[in-house]
Amino acid sequence: MSQPLITLDFLDTPALPTPAVDAATHAHEPSGEVRVNPATRTGRQRKLYIESYGCQMNFSDSEIVSSILFEQGFDTTEELEGADLVLLNTCSIREKAEQTVRMRLKQINGHKRRNPGLLVGVLGCMAERLKSKFLEEEKLVDLVVGPDAYRDLPRLIAEVDGGQKAVNVLLSREETYADITPVRLNSNGVSAFISIMRGCDNMCSFCVVPFTRGRERSRDAHSVVQEARDLVAQGYKEVTLLGQNVDSYKWASEDGLESVNFAQLLERVALVSPELRVRFATSHPKDITDEVLYTMARHENICKYIHLPAQSGNSRILKLMNRTYDRPWYEERVLAIRRILGPDCAISTDMISGFCSETEEEHQDTLSLMDFVQYDMAYMFFYSERPGTLAARKLADDVPLEVKKRRLAEIIDRQQQHSALRNQRAVGQVHRVLVENFSKRSQEHLSGRNSQNQVIIFPKKHYQKGDYVDVLVHSSTASTLLGDAV
Ligand code: SAH
Ligand code: SF4
Ligand code: F3S
Repeated sequence: MSQPLITLDFLDTPALPTPAVDAATHAHEPSGEVRVNPATRTGRQRKLYIESYGCQMNFSDSEIVSSILFEQGFDTTEELEGADLVLLNTCSIREKAEQTVRMRLKQINGHKRRNPGLLVGVLGCMAERLKSKFLEEEKLVDLVVGPDAYRDLPRLIAEVDGGQKAVNVLLSREETYADITPVRLNSNGVSAFISIMRGCDNMCSFCVVPFTRGRERSRDAHSVVQEARDLVAQGYKEVTLLGQNVDSYKWASEDGLESVNFAQLLERVALVSPELRVRFATSHPKDITDEVLYTMARHENICKYIHLPAQSGNSRILKLMNRTYDRPWYEERVLAIRRILGPDCAISTDMISGFCSETEEEHQDTLSLMDFVQYDMAYMFFYSERPGTLAARKLADDVPLEVKKRRLAEIIDRQQQHSALRNQRAVGQVHRVLVENFSKRSQEHLSGRNSQNQVIIFPKKHYQKGDYVDVLVHSSTASTLLGDAV
């Protein structure tokens, strides 16, 4: 089932050198995309319309929410018109992400005027950040629920049904929703996301996530492996293990006899089936171990692609960002990837331009780091101060907006050059592609990705979704590789 994707141009869209498909399949980047869950028509009485913003974590959480509300007699609908309950699963990562939600709430207000029975709820990171203040600021909102409180939705909705407003923004140290089988609403039936941990214990000074998602906790390793097995049984061919910082995954059984780190979890999932591709995100440069890299090297079905956000190429700025690594450390990790996995392992990054007090020279260091790594892909942003973060409290947001934007344009430009180089290198080679869908433009072409996460399009012939196909790439566009099955 392909999900309806609405991409609105006023969104917090990072300038991507890669197409929307990449963004949609990318593990957990705030891609500026809005997702509306498709309809489930099982004759349930009430209709839920849920729209998700931000990163893959949110998209995955919406599947958990849908699962919980399915049990409560809600089908999902793709149309706001006719819905009984509208939920917006929101993102706070940059100011613009929040503005988008506010604008959307204004539109929904219009619907509510026509249909006064409509219930409106706000979920996710903005709910957590603003808490009950939301109810004061946005009068039409009935329900505010933070990311660790979704199990409480049935009770909260009952309160709202009774005419009250309801709020639960308690964060938890244990909740991982391990026992809830998500309703796979956002999937193409080939690849799925498995959330392996929640929260974040890092305190990057620019970042709101530790405040909105709470403390880091790892999900029971057995439930992760079981979910992968179930997906394989349903015909899925690819899973992406998700967490803000997967390398710090650490789970121990209650009796303390069994303990599993990320490399070990990755191996267990890879062993579920040789036909199952395994991806993961996000890796943190301070935590990614050689053990993880050797595990990747040992298993053909673990994709050779690492998202390793640098944020900046300058050690002073990295210190101010509280990233806890410096440039030499980051470069060493990149060399370790090259040493253990060879030149074919793709590496991507996130970069922020114009962080507090960043000088022109320090910005040049970001460009030179990009030259050093030659990233395959990047998500690039200008710094947006977030209330309550370390940077907002301690550092002046003193780089003028035009300067931030100009530096960002230079970063994007550099990335485009590197992406073009990467595409050129791929031409003339045979790539194993996992077919995910028809190409967006034509039903005669299929679209899929190689191990390095590059999108490849080729004539359909007799191939189908879910097949592994060897494709000889003959040319490329800015974002996509084109080829023929061999
Ligand atoms: N856990 C991931 C990042 C999640 S947020 C990691 O540690 O890499 C995704 C990206 O949004 C970040 O990597 C960062 O590049 C960007 N970002 C986060 N806060 C931001 C802010 N205040 N302004 C601009 N970009 C920000
Ligand atoms: Fe934010 Fe840093 Fe945690 Fe990533 S690791 S979610 S950037 S605090
Ligand atoms: Fe994700 Fe945005 Fe929250 S990026 S974790 S939804 S702040």
